Amino acid sequence: MTGDILSFHIFGQVIVVLNSIKVSKDLFDKRGDIYSDRPVIPILDMMKWGWLVPFARYGNFWRQGRRLLDRDLRPGAVTAYRLMQQMKARVLLTRLLASPDEWEAHIEQLQGELILAMTYGYEVQGHNDRKITVARQMATLSSTVTFPGCLLVNDLPFLRYIPEWLPWFSYKSLARLGHELGEEVLHKPMEFVKESMAKGTARPSLALKNLQETEKLSRTEREKAEEAVAGALASMYAAGTDTTVSAIMGFLVAILLHPDLQTTAQRELDAVTGRERLPTFEDRSKLPFVDAVCKEVLRWRPVGPLGLPHSTTEDDVYEGFFIPKATLTACRGILHNPEVYPEPDAFKPERFLEADGSLRDDPTLAATYGYGKRICPGRHLVDTTFFIFIASLLSVFNIERGKDDDVRHVEYSFTGAGISRPNPFRCSFIPRDQRAEELIIADTMAR
Ligand code: HEM
Repeated sequence: MTGDILSFHIFGQVIVVLNSIKVSKDLFDKRGDIYSDRPVIPILDMMKWGWLVPFARYGNFWRQGRRLLDRDLRPGAVTAYRLMQQMKARVLLTRLLASPDEWEAHIEQLQGELILAMTYGYEVQGHNDRKITVARQMATLSSTVTFPGCLLVNDLPFLRYIPEWLPWFSYKSLARLGHELGEEVLHKPMEFVKESMAKGTARPSLALKNLQETEKLSRTEREKAEEAVAGALASMYAAGTDTTVSAIMGFLVAILLHPDLQTTAQRELDAVTGRERLPTFEDRSKLPFVDAVCKEVLRWRPVGPLGLPHSTTEDDVYEGFFIPKATLTACRGILHNPEVYPEPDAFKPERFLEADGSLRDDPTLAATYGYGKRICPGRHLVDTTFFIFIASLLSVFNIERGKDDDVRHVEYSFTGAGISRPNPFRCSFIPRDQRAEELIIADTMAR
C-alpha cells in the first residue's frame, strides 16, 4: 500500500495505520458511521469497564455518554471553568514555591484536583485523598492493560477462561481488582454528590447539573440516565489527567532544551502584565508566542502518537484499497510530515505564527485529538488548561536544568494506552526574581 496507508497482520488481526490527514478525514470523518467502533479488549470486558467512554463500543451507551461530554465540554461550556483552571494553575505556583523538588507530584495532583472539582465539585484533601488515589490507580491500570502487547489475554481471548488456581495463566484476579477499582471510581463520587445535594451543600459541578436534569424523568429513565452520567464523568478522569500531565511534561522538556524560547515568552508575558499581576485568560489574545509554544509542544511530542484505535463495523473500499473489518490508528506521521512541518523534529513555535507575529490557524494540528465521531471531547478544555498552566509558570519561574543534566537525551516512552510521556528527568523551578516571589505570595494570601 502507499505511505499514507500501511497495513500489517498481528495475531490474525489486520492493523491499518493512516499517515495522512486527508485519508484520516476521508475515513473517520466522512465515513464515520462505519469507522467509529473500538476494538474489543478482552481484559476490559472481564473488568466490566464497558462504561469507560474511550473504549466503549459504538452503540447507544457510548452515544448517551458522548452526547453529555460533547455538550458539557463544548467551547461555550468550558468557559465556565476558567476561574477554576486559573485558580488551580496558581495553586501550582504556590506549591512549587514551597516545595520545588516535588514538581512532578504537584503537576499530577493538580490536574486530578481540577477534574474532580469540575466533575463532582469535590475538593481534594491532600495527596492521599482516597478519591484521587483510587482514580489515579484506575487511570494507570486502564492505560496499562489496554496497551497493545501488554497482556496476552487481549490477543488470545481464550485465556480469560483459565481458572484462578492456575495463577501464572489466569487473569481473573487482575479482572477482579480492576472491577473493584472501577466500581469505586464510578459510584463513590456520585454518591458524594447525591449526599451533598441532600444536605444542601453540593457545589456547582457537572454531576450536580446532570443529576438535577434527571430529576424530571421517570424512575427507570432516571436510573439509565444516571448510569450514563456516572460513566461519562468517571471517563473524564481516566482520559483527561495523564494526557494533560504528559503535555505539560513535554513543555518542560522543550523549555529545558530551548532556554532562549523561555526568555522570548517571558518578554511577551511581561509586556502584557507589566509584572503587576499574574496572567489571565483575558490576556491570551496578546500572547501569541506563548500560544504557539503550547501548539508546538502538542505537535512536537504528540501525547498520543498512535491515537486511539478505531474499528470498522464492516468491510470497506477506499481509493481501490480493500479495508477489511480492522483496527485502524492514525499516527504521529501526520504531525511529523516534513512537507507540512519542515524539520519536524525541531521545536519551532514560529511554525504557528504569521510573519506579523499573530497566531496562524493550523487545521492539521487537530490530528493530535483524533478524528470523526470519536474525536477527543476534552480538546477545548485541554486548550485552555494547557495555556493557563504554561502562561502562569513562565510568568514567575525560570525553568532550568541541573548543572550536569543532559536533557538532549530525555527519551519518551509509553505509559500505556498509547500515552507518550518523557522518561524521568530533573527540572528546577527558580523564581525569576523577588518580584516573582511577591506575586505568588500576594496571590496565595488573596485566595
Ligand atoms: C493533551 C491532552 C489530550 C489529548 C492529546 C487527547 C487526545 C485524545 C485522542 C487522540 C483521543 C482518541 C480520539 C479518536 O479516537 O479519534 C481522545 C479521546 C478521548 N478523550 Fe482526550 N485528549 C486529551 C485530554 C482529554 C481531556 C482533558 C479529557 C476530558 C476531560 C479527554 C476526554 C477524552 C474522552 C472521553 C475520549 C474518548 C472519546 C470517545 O471514544 O468517544 N481528553 N483524546
